[in-house]
Amino acid sequence: PVRPVLPPDIRSRKGGVPLVVLTAYSTPVARLVDAHCDVVLVGDSVGMVIHGLPSTLGVTLEMMILHGRAVVRGAQKAMPVIDMPFGSYEEGPQQAFRNASRLMAETGAPAVKLEGGAHMAETIAFLTARGVPVMAHVGLTPQAVNTLGGYKVVGREDEAARVMADAKAVEAAGAFSVVLEKVPEGLAGRITEALSIPTIGIGAGVHCDGQVLVVDDMLGLFTEFRPKFVKRFAELGRAADEAIAAYAAEVRTRAFPAAEHSFPDAVPVKK
Ligand code: KIV
Ligand code: NA
Repeated sequence: PVRPVLPPDIRSRKGGVPLVVLTAYSTPVARLVDAHCDVVLVGDSVGMVIHGLPSTLGVTLEMMILHGRAVVRGAQKAMPVIDMPFGSYEEGPQQAFRNASRLMAETGAPAVKLEGGAHMAETIAFLTARGVPVMAHVGLTPQAVNTLGGYKVVGREDEAARVMADAKAVEAAGAFSVVLEKVPEGLAGRITEALSIPTIGIGAGVHCDGQVLVVDDMLGLFTEFRPKFVKRFAELGRAADEAIAAYAAEVRTRAFPAAEHSFPDAVPVKK
């Protein structure tokens, strides 16, 4: 079944009302995101946020398929996009197509996202020509944390030209949009002006064509660390901590369960 929003619809939002994107990894959260967002991203951030991994490098295709299927079930109107995990596309276009087509066929998502600029252009063109719409991701690419030497801002000073060239390369290769992660805001603005596809920023300032955040970060559920670009729109982690503490206290004092949560031995006679 064809979905209500497809990659060309997202592409055509260039320069308009900013695109609203959040991650989700489960059906209930996908339903919440679906009500308000244009795109729901099944990010490989799932590895750190849900599975407690130290980076995104340990995320597998099987994990992305499982979480992708859960999210696609919950997304009626927002367009799902699934991250290609580390090691599933870098060998070359054929490997990328084999795994991207599995992600799409086994989840029902109409697009994938992969990290990399000019060096991934050939792969993006190969996928796009064969029915796999690609959202690209340049600037800070977390799967390259070990070669980058950390999660630092990418694109200051002499690095700026390379990030601009990466963005132009993925556009020329056929990407329908591009995530700019942890790029200085002026550079992100110049890239946004230079491209005809939407830029979706995370830590890339206000001039992008859209914004994305990790949903557990903005809800205050993931609190291991907090990048500067995260704004907490809620403190659900604190609320959950208080609720769990109250439950523990009520169990220990036998305040819970009360009669209303229990079943009487005799069924009351109906009159
Ligand atoms: O994995 C992820 O959640 C992402 C977004 C933060 C862009 O790639
Ligand atoms: Na990602």
